[in-house]
Amino acid sequence: MKIITVKNYQELSSTAGQLITDLIRRQPHCTLGLATGSTPQGAYDYLVERYRAGDISFREVQTFNLDEYCGLPRSHPQSYFRFMHDNLFRHVDIQPENRHIPCAENGDLQAQCDAYNALLRAATVDLQLLGIGSNGHIGFCEPGTPFDRETFLTRLADKTRQDNQRFFDSLDEVPTTAITMGIKNILQAKSILLIASGRGKAECISQMVNGPVTEAVPASALQLHPDATVIVDEAAAALL
Ligand code: F6R
Repeated sequence: MKIITVKNYQELSSTAGQLITDLIRRQPHCTLGLATGSTPQGAYDYLVERYRAGDISFREVQTFNLDEYCGLPRSHPQSYFRFMHDNLFRHVDIQPENRHIPCAENGDLQAQCDAYNALLRAATVDLQLLGIGSNGHIGFCEPGTPFDRETFLTRLADKTRQDNQRFFDSLDEVPTTAITMGIKNILQAKSILLIASGRGKAECISQMVNGPVTEAVPASALQLHPDATVIVDEAAAALL
C-alpha cells in the first residue's frame, strides 16, 4: 500500500483529482469506479475544472459507482444517483449509457444486485476511487463482510447511519439498506485510490494500514491489493 500524506482537504482533492486526470489523459477510454460521500466532492470539483479547461474529456470514459441506498427515488437529494449527477455528471461530457449506478429504488433488489454484478464482471475497472467509513467500511461493505462477496444487498451498520445522518433531517430518514459492490469486486480493480480527510478517520486509517487483515475492518482488504494508493491529510494520518 502506498501512502501519500498531504496537508489538508484542498491538497487531498487536487492530488486525487490529478491522479484521475493523468489516467484519463493516458487512457481516454478508461473505466473508473466512483465513490460518493463528502470526501470525493473536492476531487470531482477538480475534475470538472480540468474538463472546463479543455484538459480532459469524459466522452469515452465509463463509470461504475460503488453503491446506492435502497428505497430512495433517484431524484431524492440524498440518492447517490443524484449526487453523481449534481457533483460530476451534469458538468462534463460523459455519455449517459457509460455511467452505471446500482438501481435500488424498489422492486426486486436481488435481481438488481445480480444485474449490476454481471455488468461489473464484464468490465475491467482501471481505477477504483474509495472513501472509508469511520468503522472501516469501503463501499457499504460493513465490518464482518466476507472478502469474497460480490455485489449484494447490505444492512447499514448503526455507526454508518449515525455518521450519514448529517445529510438527512433525522436518523429515521437514513435508509437501513443499500446495494453495494462487494469486496471481491473492489479488489478486482487494476488500481485502487482511497482518500480520507479529518481526525474522525484517523483510527480507521491506522487500522487499515497497520492492523491485521480482517473482516472486522473491511478496508484492511486493501493490504491484499498489488496497486493500492491511500491519500490522507495530516489529520487523518494522525495515528500512522
Ligand atoms: C460512498 C461510500 C462510502 C463512503 C464512506 C465515507 O459511495 O461507498 O464508503 O466513502 O462512508 O463517507 P464520507 O466521505 O462522507 O466520510
